[in-house]
Amino acid sequence: MKHFITLKDIPASDLRKIITDAKKRKQKRKNYNTLDEDKGSPLKGKLLIQMFEKASSRTRLSFYLAIKQLGGGTITLRANELHLGKGGESLADTAKILSTYGDGFMLRTDSDEKIEEFSKYLTIPVINGLSPSSHPTQVLSDIFTVEEIKKKPISKLNICWVGDSNNVLNSLIAASVKFSFKLNIGCPKNYEPKKFVLDWAKNNKAKINIYNDAKKAVKNADVIFSDKVISLNDKVNKTKKIRDFKNFQINSKLMSFAKKNTTFLHCLPRGTEVSNEVFLGKNSEVWLQALNRVHVQKSILLYCFGKLR
Ligand code: CP
Ligand code: NVA
Repeated sequence: MKHFITLKDIPASDLRKIITDAKKRKQKRKNYNTLDEDKGSPLKGKLLIQMFEKASSRTRLSFYLAIKQLGGGTITLRANELHLGKGGESLADTAKILSTYGDGFMLRTDSDEKIEEFSKYLTIPVINGLSPSSHPTQVLSDIFTVEEIKKKPISKLNICWVGDSNNVLNSLIAASVKFSFKLNIGCPKNYEPKKFVLDWAKNNKAKINIYNDAKKAVKNADVIFSDKVISLNDKVNKTKKIRDFKNFQINSKLMSFAKKNTTFLHCLPRGTEVSNEVFLGKNSEVWLQALNRVHVQKSILLYCFGKLR
């Protein structure tokens, strides 16, 4: 059994194995219906318990499809209906109960400490479905999407992020080390990644450049990523933050400073950080990106359950 909490803590060879497995499984499903099970139903009889402390559309649905296609099932808990927190049940007791009834636990949480605590008490794998500091299932799936579109290992591509220094970027930075790719980050001066993230990147020989000018960041980029300026439960002065990012919108003008075939990716939901024209334009692959979460999360589940081939 293995947890999937941050990309930083998972060996690069295991992350590569997950991507390779996802590729094979996706190819084999070409003529399958949505709920048809993969050959051999490798997670037959297994229950994934999902819990969301924050809103989610894609993570919820893609994990549902992922476990179903592997032959298992899922139940989704509402955090505010559990004894944990409101009813005063300890996290350790809740973890014991989850481990008694289920086989895996996928948690979207507003506390990194909580997921770490769960990992201590659970005897089943826990998967981080987004926390304040990272969004590892999203980013691993995005690496898969980039390689599928560009038909090259990501280590041979120039990757760029224009936007807020948030959980998704933290995971992309971790991925840049694990998959050895160059990463340009474009963001306003006071919105750069936190020191502990940059220190980790530096100690792990990350190939990262930070620009406070979006035009410089996107130069020579094969792929441009972005995400909402205001994240879920972001406790900031929203008007000021959006104003501070006004020169960092990904629009046709900014795209003209990148390569002609630069791919645009965005994990959704979106806000003012991207123009409609770019988001729905010919370089955008955001819908394929969302779909691929199903394929990659299946291989993440198999990794966690010790069933990755
Ligand atoms: N990208 C993503 O995680 O979307 P949801 O918040 O809808 O799950
Ligand atoms: N950074 C965003 C990602 C949403 C999928 C957030 O945390 O809200």
